[in-house]
Amino acid sequence: MLEIGSGTGQHAVWIGQQIPTVTWQTSDRCENHSAIQQWVAESNLTNVYPPIALDVAIDPLPNSQFDMIFSSNTAHIMAWQDVEKMFQLVSNRLNTGGYFCLYGPMQYDGIIEHASNRAFNQKLKSDCPHRAIRDVNELNQLATNGNMQWVEDNAMPANNRLLVWLKS
Ligand SMILES: C[S@@+](CC[C@H](N)C(=O)[O-])C[C@H]1O[C@@H](n2cnc3c(N)ncnc32)[C@H](O)[C@@H]1O
Repeated sequence: MLEIGSGTGQHAVWIGQQIPTVTWQTSDRCENHSAIQQWVAESNLTNVYPPIALDVAIDPLPNSQFDMIFSSNTAHIMAWQDVEKMFQLVSNRLNTGGYFCLYGPMQYDGIIEHASNRAFNQKLKSDCPHRAIRDVNELNQLATNGNMQWVEDNAMPANNRLLVWLKS
């Protein structure tokens, strides 16, 4: 499993503890590495690896393939052109039959259902104009372009979703 944008590394450590059979490669831009390194080191887990430098704008993994790729709360932070690059990278690096799991708040058919997410979207845009909650249709078009089929849309706490695509 490759995680894109591990942030603090807390998700990697929690999942690595819950699922000992998973091998979890953390990654992020370099400015976040020290936090991830600390979480991974303190966990003493052997199935969660320290971060590799990965900015989706630059694919540093030309020879690596993964069974699964996970990313949480990144698509609304990245500029849209980086979201496009993330989907291209995912498509290139996923094995056939592999899954891409994307977690976060989502928009459907131009509508953000929950007031809390609408307020969050306004804050994202005022903080940084290139940030926004993404529309599932547009994400799914990127996935389709990369030979990935949308197979799950799971409701998660706090009005978040977990979308899953299968690489064919
Ligand atoms: C809101 S944080 C989410 C962190 C963590 N995944 C979580 O859910 O708590 C957004 C993350 O996206 C990462 N990110 C933003 N732009 C990126 C890019 N172009 N390539 C890779 N990661 C990026 C940031 O470095 C940060 O770790």
